[in-house]
Amino acid sequence: MESIAKKNIRHLSVFDPGPSEQALKEKYSLQTLTRLFMNENVYGCSPRVLQALREVTPQDLAVYPSARTDQLRQALARKHQVDPESIVMTNGLDEMILLLARTFIEEGDEVLGHTPTFPEIYSQARVDGGIPVMIPDKGQNIDWDGMLQGISSRTKMIYLCNPNNPTGRLLPLEEIRDFLEHVPEDVLVVIDEAYMEYTQDPQSSTALPLVEEYPQVAVMRTFSKAYGVANARVGFGVFSPKHLSAIDAVRLPFNFNTLNEKMAIAALKDEDFLEETRKLNEAEKRRWEEFLTTQGLDYHPSATNFLFIHVPRAEALVQKALEAGYRIITHSYEDHVRLTLPAASDGVVLRELFKNHLKN
Ligand SMILES: Cc1ncc(COP(=O)(O)O)c(C=O)c1O
Repeated sequence: MESIAKKNIRHLSVFDPGPSEQALKEKYSLQTLTRLFMNENVYGCSPRVLQALREVTPQDLAVYPSARTDQLRQALARKHQVDPESIVMTNGLDEMILLLARTFIEEGDEVLGHTPTFPEIYSQARVDGGIPVMIPDKGQNIDWDGMLQGISSRTKMIYLCNPNNPTGRLLPLEEIRDFLEHVPEDVLVVIDEAYMEYTQDPQSSTALPLVEEYPQVAVMRTFSKAYGVANARVGFGVFSPKHLSAIDAVRLPFNFNTLNEKMAIAALKDEDFLEETRKLNEAEKRRWEEFLTTQGLDYHPSATNFLFIHVPRAEALVQKALEAGYRIITHSYEDHVRLTLPAASDGVVLRELFKNHLKN
């Protein structure tokens, strides 16, 4: 029988998480299976987050969450020097992306971006009749001229992921600024900073200060990556007043729960954990860069916790890694893998595996 669901969702397929970890472990007789395909924090999360969970009371659970999430928004506002009222909390950036599409995209509106990048905004926009316009990168860089030419009278939103997933590239703020100078005021420019905490100097690389300068800019962040709480689902966006009331009207009132709020506040307080994550990640990145250069493999310079690597017979490499207990994935281009930077001991094993793969 034909589905009665709306026609705009026909392009969507049910998210396929692949075989379960248990099934893979049984199939390949593995003691452990290390996840290096979702760019989660391989060092876990701050112990303060677990402590915050332990302190949750029955009363916390019995009542509805505050629809305002004031405590967390104030903590975030202090950290990022923005107005707490400009912050919208969501269940991860996944929900923010959905909210952006529902709030802004109408039939025939275009969502402009470059490729390869994180594609979720395009499929969500299509649910509302939006049309993706994706400009292929030129080598390792965004084709800014192509992007400007891609702007039409139907462009409603532009999506920039900085640093970019899957390439890991950090866009200099000046490049974004130059681009913004040419973007019409009625186009919303969404800057997804999911991996910004991994950069050398997040304070000077973030586009957060641009929100005040350019009302068409929105910046979003997640706690799923460097803060290590992907399972808690904590994301937020910073918007100019001109967009806030529309987004808040579409957002479900109790979308963000008190447990998430408590965990995020605890995570925010542990600067040492963040710093340690950054340090360990950088050290591992250096070891991989050295190794890849020695092996003559091309990779993109990365400001994140993953590397995008050009490697022969990538599918076979992914399979060998799986059989050795590591989940990595092919991504975007032929013979490219995206590898979440592992903990040091796993890195040693994996580089050996890469080396053997190249020999055979
Ligand atoms: C660039 C980018 N944006 C957004 C997300 C979604 O993050 P969240 O876990 O906050 O939903 C991801 C997840 O991998 C991502 O890589």
